Amino acid sequence: MTDILTPVLTAHWDQPDIFTLDGYRRSGGWKALPKALAMERGDVIAAVKNSGLRGRGGAGFPTGVKWGFLPQGDTKPHYLVVNADESEPGACKDVPLMMANPHLLVEGAAIASYAIGASHAFIYVRGEVAHVIRRLRHAVEEAYEAGLLGRDILGSGFDLDVIVHAGAGAYICGEETALLDSLEGRRGLPRNKPPFPAVAGVYALPTNVNNVESIASVPAILLNGADWFAGIGTEKSKGYGIFSLSGHITTPGQYEAPLGITLRQLLDLAGGMRAGHRLKFWTAGGSSAGILTDEHLDMPMDFESVAAAGSGLGTRSVQIFDETTCVVRVILRWTEFYQHESCGKCTPCREGTYWLVRMLERMEHGQGTDEDLPKLLDICDNIVGRAFCALGDSVGPPITSAVRYFRDEFLQHQKEGGCPFDPAASTAWSQS
Ligand SMILES: Cc1cc2nc3c(=O)[nH]c(=O)nc-3n(C[C@H](O)[C@H](O)[C@H](O)COP(=O)(O)O)c2cc1C
Ligand code: SF4
Repeated sequence: MTDILTPVLTAHWDQPDIFTLDGYRRSGGWKALPKALAMERGDVIAAVKNSGLRGRGGAGFPTGVKWGFLPQGDTKPHYLVVNADESEPGACKDVPLMMANPHLLVEGAAIASYAIGASHAFIYVRGEVAHVIRRLRHAVEEAYEAGLLGRDILGSGFDLDVIVHAGAGAYICGEETALLDSLEGRRGLPRNKPPFPAVAGVYALPTNVNNVESIASVPAILLNGADWFAGIGTEKSKGYGIFSLSGHITTPGQYEAPLGITLRQLLDLAGGMRAGHRLKFWTAGGSSAGILTDEHLDMPMDFESVAAAGSGLGTRSVQIFDETTCVVRVILRWTEFYQHESCGKCTPCREGTYWLVRMLERMEHGQGTDEDLPKLLDICDNIVGRAFCALGDSVGPPITSAVRYFRDEFLQHQKEGGCPFDPAASTAWSQS
């Protein structure tokens, strides 16, 4: 089965000095930037467009098309912002990528900045990962010393400063406009769109925001060609990506594979479910999309197929749960996360997540009533599509899909007066 893997981003993670300039160069690194600088900016954008690369930060918007939205030939400064806030439950691909191979991201950022005409790039990193921030800053320093960043890069006349910015520790700061507010020194709250960042982003100037993995995918596209990348994956979901497998499996970890791989294939690579257990439910794209079951084992994990199954490919945060897991408890934990991380700007999300947590808590501990399930679904319906930003839209699908697939388990809690998986916890909760 190992021939299914397509290690490109992760190809050199086991090389002990890959995080240094010398190590990265020995692996073939920093060769794509000179190639890009010898091309017209428009041709670099065209190459990324033709590759079919779609944003790896969740929404899957075509990266080259997004770059093309920035105005051409204007006199305003342009900015590149790399979104390295990675904070969603189960998401864990960007942090290891930056830790293992920071130069890959810095080289990708230099190429992207050249393409969009930016002379400043920010890498906005989740503040808690201080070790990653140190490593990235070290890579940036090395690149400056080698003349790969700074003034007149490689004699091309192109100038670029890269700033590694430590975020302040809030999930909402991964939402691109909240990130821009945070970067400007304000509290991170989502902005009204339009105007989109391509028109008015950081400092109200044209800005392109891309995920770490999107930007890190660019050097290989430039070196190997758009057709090479477009030849991997499925018809509409091109290329490969990092699938982060966690949970009740034999070998959790990062598996870089073509888009369109199935969970069955990934499980084979990961040694299967932990011994003696079977798959109960899983996520294809993290806690923000609907859960899936064993009926989806052979669903191709590309943007279209996962959406058609009522979920989302998101960041390929594949969380796998076996039959020992209480689905109500998992949904409660995720909803607690969203309640905690709700920025409070809009009423449906601020109030709705509060009520959802109260109800799910009651239901998990067997204190639910006949009215609770319809009310739960009604609250979800009143958040999704009515919230100000996509955080609110993420709250409903895990709950509604859990009720769709495991309604009996919700009712069993009520019937038994506690959680069938952990009755003692419910007794303690009732008495507290
Ligand atoms: C609450 C919330 C958190 C997000 N967190 C991240 C994140 O940590 N990293 C990321 O790349 N995108 C995140 N996004 C998506 C970004 O808003 C944006 O779509 C993405 O950075 C665009 O990059 P891409 O086109 O390369 O995917 C988040 C969105 C929301 C609503
Ligand atoms: S949906 Fe509303 S309250 Fe929730 S994070 Fe977005 S703006 Fe804030």
